[in-house]
Amino acid sequence: AAFATPAAHAQSYPAKPITLVVPFAAGGPTDVVARTLGAAMGRTLNQTVVIENKTGAGGTLAAAHTARATPDGYTFLIHHNGMATAPALYRKLPYNPLTDFEYVSQVIDVPMTLLGRKDLPAKDFTELRAYLKAQGDKVNLAHAGLGAVSHLCGVLFRQAIGADVTTVPYQGTGPAMNALLAGQVDLLCDQTTSTTQHIKAGSVKLYGVTTAARLKTLPAAPTLAEQGLKGFEVVVWHGIYAPKGTPKEAIDKFGAALRAALKDPVVAQRLDELGAVVVPEAKQTPEGLRTWLAEETARYAPVIKAAGQFAD
Ligand code: MLT
Repeated sequence: AAFATPAAHAQSYPAKPITLVVPFAAGGPTDVVARTLGAAMGRTLNQTVVIENKTGAGGTLAAAHTARATPDGYTFLIHHNGMATAPALYRKLPYNPLTDFEYVSQVIDVPMTLLGRKDLPAKDFTELRAYLKAQGDKVNLAHAGLGAVSHLCGVLFRQAIGADVTTVPYQGTGPAMNALLAGQVDLLCDQTTSTTQHIKAGSVKLYGVTTAARLKTLPAAPTLAEQGLKGFEVVVWHGIYAPKGTPKEAIDKFGAALRAALKDPVVAQRLDELGAVVVPEAKQTPEGLRTWLAEETARYAPVIKAAGQFAD
């Protein structure tokens, strides 16, 4: 220790705060997950993980920003199914999700809930269907843009029930939820990581969950599938990415900090209470995320084509 060489002085990675880009507004489900994980990861890494909410274009601005960022190990992105749906939704996507990134890990799977404003006349899903048939495009569904899972869920729902609704975009489902709570919009399909608290408080109407089976956290809530939308299923999955060319040491260390955070009892309990399911360890790897992303991209392309949703 007496003979410090220059190399010994050079601080090893991470030598400064790390930015974790969140593609949607603060207070929404992606933000909640990023902040929960980021705080725990920062303790492992001995550096702050700074959350940067880079909103716009259904999450594609944040992905484009990350693809272009300096690949030095100080910029990461957390993103969901939107990484797989964007190529089918956007004709001119300025990045290729399958080639322009390094892949760190899958993170969690999250169910969605179909909610109505508290004073929406339809008291259950059967009444909601009738209401939508009668009211059609007079009913507003809030979402977080083309590429957001709230939009995907809304589009698939609209297609499944064969009734029209008017969609209203926000910068994230955080603000969309505020609009629903204020009664400014009628419907929102959003992740349990954000909606559980409002459902439990009774400040919104819950029409169903989007998973194949009922949830442990909301056992009384029927699935949409069991209420007549046979096969209806939307599960949100999250992954962590870095710009292509990010050093392997950074990918490995950030990934190890993530795996430690997912095992942290406080973090695990919080995620569990919010209905999130930590993915198996085999998926908590770069290869696990890359493989899954490729599968999901192929799976969603025809689904989105059938729903007829595109942007330039
Ligand atoms: C958010 O974090 O605001 C949501 O994940 C947006 C979305 O619905 O995709």
